[in-house]
Amino acid sequence: MNLIFLGPPGAGKGTQAKLLEERYGIAQISTGDMLRAELKAGSEIGLQAKAVMESGALVSDDIMIRMLAGRIDKPDCKKGFILDGFPRTVPQALALDAMLASKHMKLDAVIELKVDDSALVERIAGRFTCGSCGTGYHDEFHPTAKAGVCDKCGGTDFVRRPDDKRETVAARLAAYHQQTAPILPHYAALGLLHSVDGMAEVSEVTHSLISILDTVPKT
Ligand code: AP5
Repeated sequence: MNLIFLGPPGAGKGTQAKLLEERYGIAQISTGDMLRAELKAGSEIGLQAKAVMESGALVSDDIMIRMLAGRIDKPDCKKGFILDGFPRTVPQALALDAMLASKHMKLDAVIELKVDDSALVERIAGRFTCGSCGTGYHDEFHPTAKAGVCDKCGGTDFVRRPDDKRETVAARLAAYHQQTAPILPHYAALGLLHSVDGMAEVSEVTHSLISILDTVPKT
């Protein structure tokens, strides 16, 4: 099953993709995580992307399309994938259509997670992850059980993304509304778009997604 999760920054794309990849045996492909890995490795792509990401703007279509093309051929995508953070512009959506057609692959569904802008700022500004195992937490909505200690691995180092500052979140939201939201009509016209209330509790959102994904016709 090949899926796209669309939504503004902090809508819960990553949270839900991680919860569903095991259930459906499909791989989460987060282009944001891929860029952060490039940055950590000090690669040329990482160096090019750093300032752009920290400003809240979008990395060039050319870089993103090349990065994704190699990723969907990996063995973990054999049963399918959840694209989390791609496509983000009309040229990326069209490039994805062409890429999938050339590989005789199809999308099964595009899920839009709808969340109010005001809630997004609070979600993102409070987000942090364990530096050892990557488990995600939130200051208010999902704190660690014991302060300063990861529930999963006992790690005590935590990291916050440099682009999760309040002022950068505003730029990321503007990029979503101006460059990403315009791709929604493309998927609506193809009959692939399903909208889900992302303001609900995490488990309720998961439940809504499962009700949709269990019934979409699979390729
Ligand atoms: P990326 O890493 O993709 O970030 P994003 O889209 O801004 O999304 P986030 O990861 O911030 O949010 P999310 O929707 O996954 O929410 P999450 O589940 O974490 O991109 C970063 C940057 O990379 C971009 O700005 C751009 O520069 C570049 N980039 C990446 N892809 C690109 C592309 N294709 N083209 C060009 N540039 C690209 O949840 C957020 C928080 O809310 C968490 O704390 C979570 O616990 C909490 N939460 C989740 N769901 C709920 C809920 N239902 N109720 C309460 N809290 C919740």
